[in-house]
Amino acid sequence: MRSMSDDHTHVQEFFTARAADWDSRFPDDGPAYAAAVAELGLVEGDRVLDAGCGTGRALPPLRAAVGVSGVVLGVDLTPAMLEAARRAGRDRDGRLLLADVAALPLRPESVDAVFAAGLIAHLPHPADDLRELARVVRPGGTLALFHPIGRAALAARHGRRLTTDDLRAEANLKPLLAGSGWRMTSYVDQDDRFLALAVRPS
Ligand SMILES: C[S@@+](CC[C@H](N)C(=O)[O-])C[C@H]1O[C@@H](n2cnc3c(N)ncnc32)[C@H](O)[C@@H]1O
Repeated sequence: MRSMSDDHTHVQEFFTARAADWDSRFPDDGPAYAAAVAELGLVEGDRVLDAGCGTGRALPPLRAAVGVSGVVLGVDLTPAMLEAARRAGRDRDGRLLLADVAALPLRPESVDAVFAAGLIAHLPHPADDLRELARVVRPGGTLALFHPIGRAALAARHGRRLTTDDLRAEANLKPLLAGSGWRMTSYVDQDDRFLALAVRPS
């Protein structure tokens, strides 16, 4: 069985190798991120967490949504991804923190929403980690699990076939969220977008 630190080492090695050219590999994703952020229902002054923020591609639209009076926090486990975020100037749009979503350095109910792009497939303990995200969100707050490409297209890109045990399949994700303190409110899985929205029940 892998230990937590083995899990982290694997993820950090994987993304450290990809950090420098992460943004140039996907140069046209900006509008898709902005459209997904718009679905979180953020308003001026809100506090939002980008969980697994990577190079911070979502930080500019998140900042635009909450305005100067809001709070934008990007958390990631891989130092190289956060360094790439700083080099790209994304720290102007949000505060960057090196942390594991399994143990966030945040008070309970301290944010209004969580945006998580490309994250859950990399989590070794998704139920526990989604529960930790629910801990830091206020009742009525929202979660967006996003990917700028749908499940089938992503599997094809990696030369894989989709299997029924895929975590992000609607039939698996809905109960996973329900067991982790969330209620799934919408689910879209198209070629050019995966977006599952959930709310933390009041
Ligand atoms: C596929 S990348 C997506 C990055 C960014 N959200 C984007 O859309 O460009 C996944 C990111 O999640 C981070 N990550 C994976 N597991 C994590 C964890 N347990 N806690 C925090 N970040 C994690 C990785 O370091 C990586 O930067």
